[in-house]
Amino acid sequence: MQPHLLEHAETLPAAERERFLAQLRSIDFAKIERLVAGESQTDDWAAIAAKAKSPRSIRLNRTDNEFTLEAARRRGAEALRSGHVGAMLVAGGQGTRLGFDHPKGMYPLGPVSEAFLFQILFEKLRAVGARYGVTIPLFLMTSPATHDETVAFLAEHDRFGLREEDLVVFCQGTMPAVDEQTGKLLLAGPGELALSPDGHGGMLAALAASRAPQIIRERGLKQLFYFQVDNPLAQVCDEATLGYHLLAESEVTMQAVPKHDPAEKVGVVVDVDRRMMVIEYSDLPAEHAARRAPDGTLELWAGSIAVHVFDAQFLLKHSTGDGGLPFHRARKKVPHLDAKGNLIEPTEPNALKFEKFIFDLAPAARSALVVEVDPAEAFAPLKNAPGAKTDSPEWVRAQMIAQATRRLEAAGAKVAAGTPVEISPLFGYDAETVAARVKPGMTVDKATYLSINAK
Ligand code: UD1
Repeated sequence: MQPHLLEHAETLPAAERERFLAQLRSIDFAKIERLVAGESQTDDWAAIAAKAKSPRSIRLNRTDNEFTLEAARRRGAEALRSGHVGAMLVAGGQGTRLGFDHPKGMYPLGPVSEAFLFQILFEKLRAVGARYGVTIPLFLMTSPATHDETVAFLAEHDRFGLREEDLVVFCQGTMPAVDEQTGKLLLAGPGELALSPDGHGGMLAALAASRAPQIIRERGLKQLFYFQVDNPLAQVCDEATLGYHLLAESEVTMQAVPKHDPAEKVGVVVDVDRRMMVIEYSDLPAEHAARRAPDGTLELWAGSIAVHVFDAQFLLKHSTGDGGLPFHRARKKVPHLDAKGNLIEPTEPNALKFEKFIFDLAPAARSALVVEVDPAEAFAPLKNAPGAKTDSPEWVRAQMIAQATRRLEAAGAKVAAGTPVEISPLFGYDAETVAARVKPGMTVDKATYLSINAK
């Protein structure tokens, strides 16, 4: 126990004090001390990166891949039609970089419609389900930071059309934040620890404690398609990716985009001693990030966009006992009470947070695969506040407009230069489904949102 935590506790009403004491008793202080001391930071990333090679992968637009695109699409379509595919969306992050005071899924992102991120992603799921004649269940992970607001928001919007039985919301756990200098737990209030979500790797324990395992078994789900709430271009339940995963008998398949600049802030998927793993961008030493293959491209090219397919049994097996995932430490700005009880809002990182990453499960897979995708078609993450050069709302909207324009033009429509156009996934969620709806001679010359009711 750390005595400073009780300094303000006598000011609390009895019930609150009891709750706080119970919370403190549930904290594994010894474990936190070990994490502060550097447990699970022992990984020698330079040594690991030195051994890292390009992983087993399906490259884009190449004829020498292990499996053809046609075979993969057939196999993926079969899996979708059989109703054995579920989806998993992680939305427990605090989204501090975006500077939006609500869960990120509530961000009104649609460039014309102002559709919320949740709406865009849920509509994709509904559209894919409709195409294959099934409904795809969604397992949505929140955290104490996002849970209540997310649940209320989705109820208010009728789950954006998902059936009640197709949405399972479960909440991940938290970890205390500690003072970077002293390693002591921080207080957010007199009877309140400064807690933060325990990383998307916290999904394993949270999943095991939820209704999800039972539903996965009852519905006979065999593959779980995992994606993040920040990416409106995510190819939710993409048939080709699912198909490659199945043809390769993979337990974990990750979509990746080729890195061009060594400094790009994406984790790299690599092979180390015949196991697939992700080295997070903050851990990858610059000299290894910059290694080049003979053709001049980056050797560690596979930038993870955090879109994965998991074999459901593999995930469930590892969700008991939390998969033994390690904690990573991150330096963050965490508001806290000082010794006098004043709330301090730091301007520089002052604290350590501890997070598990779901991709640390990859080395446990007997068979794993990377599928390269085109970033213009699959990756435009909303991370940064307005004004940033990339990954900001205006940048993501521009990517969405560009994709919609490309799809309409490919289908024969005329889009006047500079016209904002947006396509609801219910109208069409990929080039083919959009093309099927575009009428001959269609022209777009003013801001347009093509939705399900569009003529
Ligand atoms: C993440 C990946 C990075 C990848 C990039 C692609 C990690 C650690 N890194 O970076 O390898 O290249 O996305 O966009 O994931 N989340 C939770 N609970 C948590 C923390 C996060 O559900 O406790 C969710 C967030 O809501 C979000 C996603 O996980 O959907 C990503 O989290 P974030 O911390 O923003 O990761 P990035 O640094 O952007």
